[in-house]
Amino acid sequence: MSFRLLAECPVTGARAGEYSTPHGTLRTPVFMPVGTQATVKAMAPFELEQMGAQILLGNTYHLFLRPGEDLVERAGGLHRFMDWPHPILTDSGGFQVFSLAELRTLSDEGVVFRSHRDGSRHLMTPERSVKIQEKLGSDIAMCFDECVPYPSTPEASREGMERTLRWAVRCREAHARPGQDLFGIVQGSVYEDQRVLCARELVRLDFPGYAIGGLSVGESHGEMYRILDCLAPEMPRTKPRYLMGVGHPANLVEGIARGVDLFDCVLPTRNGRNGTVFTSTGRLNVKNQALAEDFRPLDETCDCYVCRHYTRAYLRHLYKAGEILAARLCTWHNLHFLLSLVEGARNAILEGTFPAYREAFHARFDDVRE
Ligand code: GUN
Ligand code: ZN
Repeated sequence: MSFRLLAECPVTGARAGEYSTPHGTLRTPVFMPVGTQATVKAMAPFELEQMGAQILLGNTYHLFLRPGEDLVERAGGLHRFMDWPHPILTDSGGFQVFSLAELRTLSDEGVVFRSHRDGSRHLMTPERSVKIQEKLGSDIAMCFDECVPYPSTPEASREGMERTLRWAVRCREAHARPGQDLFGIVQGSVYEDQRVLCARELVRLDFPGYAIGGLSVGESHGEMYRILDCLAPEMPRTKPRYLMGVGHPANLVEGIARGVDLFDCVLPTRNGRNGTVFTSTGRLNVKNQALAEDFRPLDETCDCYVCRHYTRAYLRHLYKAGEILAARLCTWHNLHFLLSLVEGARNAILEGTFPAYREAFHARFDDVRE
């Protein structure tokens, strides 16, 4: 697999590139819709293709618990199992074990946890996480890491960061699937010295790509941008960079401005299901009484299937009536919105107009920036 830089913004750190994987070439920067349970909730693969999705994210934690990686392997791998023939990235379970599982016991060996669903007891280790991801057959696998909560003391953060580094060595050692890239994950909470140290150690291990974890966990946008700023010079220019779990529109544009190439987030799908949509001017609640007779599309500037066919009044009606189509259509618009926001940024980087694109976005989009 290979990552090729096509353009770099001369003013910001934004980059446009091409990342070839066994299941196709990604045009970066790219947003990855989240398909935790081998499905992007409410969307069929052909719909995701139509809205311009290039790559999906799957979760080791969930697929390990159900249906199990051996079943997925027997099905022909995750791509065949879910009928998504394009690239897939799997997260390692490092984050989910800490955010979802119960009664965790953490040691250097790994994490003993109880399933959030049925209470069953499991041990997840760096080696197991890597072997599961090999069986799932993703194009990009992630190291098993420890993501400390926010806020954490410098001491607690350092412990998690150092364990993440020890686990990264073991993941790299265990990883053997040809064609699958394994990314290292930078931790270190909001502490710049720890972030830089973690990045340098991972770069010494020479991963094909680097992720920034432990952000968007409650810190301010300003703190997130400060960490991205201190990490940009540490990341090899010629390798892909992935900001994990980040998907607020303003964070995407600012992440791209700081050199990030890949993003994922449940925000568009989760918000869509509860009737919150993103538009070019900010957030909109579809349930709002003010939309009862609003016969405009969700976003006047959006050319998605939903905005070309349906009004705010209709979507509000569907929601009020408890119709399943409401969740589907809001998810559809939200994913299209984020995918085209990132694609627009990519085109601007290639054309040399990214700073203007960034300004125009913030001038219209009424939400936090800092
Ligand atoms: N998803 C969002 N943040 C993280 C993180 O810090 N680690 C992992 N593995 N996944 C994430
Ligand atoms: Zn739309």
